[in-house]
Amino acid sequence: MIYADNAATTKISDIAFSKMLPFLQEQYGNASSQYSFGVKARRAVKQSRRQVADAIGADISEITFTSGGSEGNSWVLQSVSVLFREEPIHIITSSIEHHSVLNACHTLKERGIAVTYLPVDSNGYVSTDDVESALCPDTKLVSVMLANNEIGTLQPIQEIGKLLREKSILFHTDAVQAVGHIPVNVKDLQVDFLTASAHKFNGAKGTGFLYIRSGLDLPQLVFGGEQEQGQRAGTENVAGIVALGYALEESITNMVNERARLISLIRATANGLRAAISELIINAENAERLPGTLNVTFPHASGETMMHLLDLKEICVSTSSACNSGKDNPSHVLLALGLTEDQAKSSIRISYGKYNTAKEADKIVATIDESYAKIVEMRSTK
Ligand SMILES: Cc1ncc(COP(=O)(O)O)c(C=O)c1O
Repeated sequence: MIYADNAATTKISDIAFSKMLPFLQEQYGNASSQYSFGVKARRAVKQSRRQVADAIGADISEITFTSGGSEGNSWVLQSVSVLFREEPIHIITSSIEHHSVLNACHTLKERGIAVTYLPVDSNGYVSTDDVESALCPDTKLVSVMLANNEIGTLQPIQEIGKLLREKSILFHTDAVQAVGHIPVNVKDLQVDFLTASAHKFNGAKGTGFLYIRSGLDLPQLVFGGEQEQGQRAGTENVAGIVALGYALEESITNMVNERARLISLIRATANGLRAAISELIINAENAERLPGTLNVTFPHASGETMMHLLDLKEICVSTSSACNSGKDNPSHVLLALGLTEDQAKSSIRISYGKYNTAKEADKIVATIDESYAKIVEMRSTK
């Protein structure tokens, strides 16, 4: 099998896997227990918090472990309605956010909170000028993702962060696709909240973290014990947290080489596909993008059919984000770039990661070429 859907999830790395295993069987103590068996688990959680803080330029007190990206995003967005409950509230976000942000915003809107969804240009960029123009005296939070999960476009977070810090407006970024793949430093970005998820950087599923800038407080997410500085109760997922720390550390160590390798795999794939299929469109082609993500449109050839034909050859790619697959809706991200519904439904995302090779990229190009010819033939005989 060739797995080329690393934006959906990744295989856990050997190091992360071997480091988490003892915490499932031998050192399975509760990190809140007072005897030494529990202390070992507590120390492991602390070490992971240190690894995360070092990786993103934060202090350990600013890192809260969560179950992943959806939880971190939902927590920040929902908190605004509690933090500012006595005041009128306006939130700014972009039209290409992950559904964990968009759906939280839709719910807030139903509760009477004003939300502005900023447009993007054909490369998927949010403009800092548009953020500035959308600000009003009621604006309490701006949430713009660092890297888009479908097209890979990297947003000008540092520039937006600078603007908002000067105006003392809270700024959240969903960095789920970015952390572990490109340098992320919360001080440089000037963000107040940052969401990440371990299964996107070769950690385990069901673990993530939220950076909450020192001095800021979110309302408690889960009630119960005093875990996670009393903010999120529940017995810690020690094994997952340990895997997260090591996976992130490993990603940072290998980032420079890995980035260059992924860029060259993506370039080879894009060039190969374009040579084979002249009408191919590369989405957000001129944007600064994640190193391993490529989104392409084959005019008039259903992306879903392409995905299934590739699946028959044991190649995994996706038509849009994993959380939206299985639905017939065209991608909201591709529509926001200006693609028609037909074009959006004729697109696939290839996302490479740690375990993909140049040989696999060649195989993907050849198989897409073959499959495209089949789809065109099927269409002409209809
Ligand atoms: C940009 C982005 N944000 C949030 C999430 C949700 O993360 P999780 O799967 O950890 O809930 C994803 C996952 O696809 C994502 O790509």
